[in-house]
Amino acid sequence: MEKIVSLCKRRGFIFPSSEIYGGLASTWDYGPLGVELKGNVKAAWWQSTVYEREDIEGLDAAILMHPKTWSASGHIKNFFDLMVDCKDCQKRFKSQAKCPSCGSSSLTKERPFNLMFKTFLGPVEDSGSGVYLRPETAQGIFVNFSNVLNSSHRKLPFGIAQIGKAFRNEVTTGNFTFRSREFEQMEIEFFVPPNEAEKWYKYWVKERLSWYTKLGINSKNLRVREHEQDELAHYAKACADIEYKFPFGWSELEGIANRTDFDLKQHSEFSQKDLAYFNEETKTKVLPFIIEPSGGIDRTVLAFLVDAYREEQVRERKRVVLGLSRRLAPIKVAVLPLLRNRGEIVRFAKSIAGDLRKHFSGCGKKVVYDDTAGIGRLYRRQDEIGTIFCVTVDVDSLEDKKVTVRERDSMEQVRVSTEGLRSYLEAELQK
Ligand code: GAP
Repeated sequence: MEKIVSLCKRRGFIFPSSEIYGGLASTWDYGPLGVELKGNVKAAWWQSTVYEREDIEGLDAAILMHPKTWSASGHIKNFFDLMVDCKDCQKRFKSQAKCPSCGSSSLTKERPFNLMFKTFLGPVEDSGSGVYLRPETAQGIFVNFSNVLNSSHRKLPFGIAQIGKAFRNEVTTGNFTFRSREFEQMEIEFFVPPNEAEKWYKYWVKERLSWYTKLGINSKNLRVREHEQDELAHYAKACADIEYKFPFGWSELEGIANRTDFDLKQHSEFSQKDLAYFNEETKTKVLPFIIEPSGGIDRTVLAFLVDAYREEQVRERKRVVLGLSRRLAPIKVAVLPLLRNRGEIVRFAKSIAGDLRKHFSGCGKKVVYDDTAGIGRLYRRQDEIGTIFCVTVDVDSLEDKKVTVRERDSMEQVRVSTEGLRSYLEAELQK
């Protein structure tokens, strides 16, 4: 983990939030490469969820919601951790037998601590204006169930997908971005006839597991763990976690839950609006069951980084490579001049980078130009951040109008004409 954390800081993937003020515990900022990687993860999820399927609609609901939402959802009553203080070192943590900091067993009594951040709507800070930062994006989907159903003329089964920020005032944080107080979720709420819930639950566990492997995570580092009855959240009948083998142990990336009709029932009752689905064919009403694959973007990004990191020996040298998939790598192509003090080579390389950028930016693929070091060091820098192709412009390029294209993993180099470069890279990046 130390190597990953250091690489993330040094190369601009992830920084501690407000670092110049000493940071803010368990909040993180995504730097120039991090924002690209995270954006690619979100785009891959949205593509496979909303674009490639015909049974899921997208949504982007507000973070602030009517406070009754959280009474209906059960978060006011159930969403808390039991917290204790150590009487010896004064540290505060989730209830356990001994202080994780100094080992003392002299602890205060357990107190419940609600994990939702509370703030106030408008200029008056009174009890009537209290609102919460949402602790999950899911509720924004449930309260919009009828809006989406009526505007899209959907029939069961169908789903609503959303990516967005969630906030939890976690008592215990740590392991870099793994448990943060501000994070992003990617959630699908899949509405099904109650008698099909079991089938769809199994379907989504399989489907979501294969999403991670298709994007490059080694299947040996993934497993599915079914929750025991006493672990289940207050709304769930069954839940399976997709876990990743992080350096700090197997930990949850995503949970797939059978939420039954709990949510629609609660919101129907609290809002006094009928959220039942009317089946035109049978002329009957039913409250759909909900199967929920709920993943964390930040944890997923972290898993992709950990899984992709490798150190190799190339001749006498150590090479660090971030073997991210072509889809996820933050930079697809880096154009590098072999000799950075030769004006014609630099100009030619910059014009090639400009042409490629003009083309690839339209399909969200980042192209960069770099001449800030010798070629050996430039290659190493690009390997370390996962750049798929390096295009090198040399003296011969000025004559034969060809460049060297080097692939990150194999380090194989091929000469490609500048005329055919764009289509060569386009075809390779599809692989
Ligand atoms: N709507 C269901 C729900 O929110 P959850 O298991 O509490 O379920 C879903 O959260 C996912 O959100 C988790 O699998 C995890 O990836 C992510 N997540 C939850 N708490 C997090 C935190 N404090 N920091 C980062 N990610 C978190």
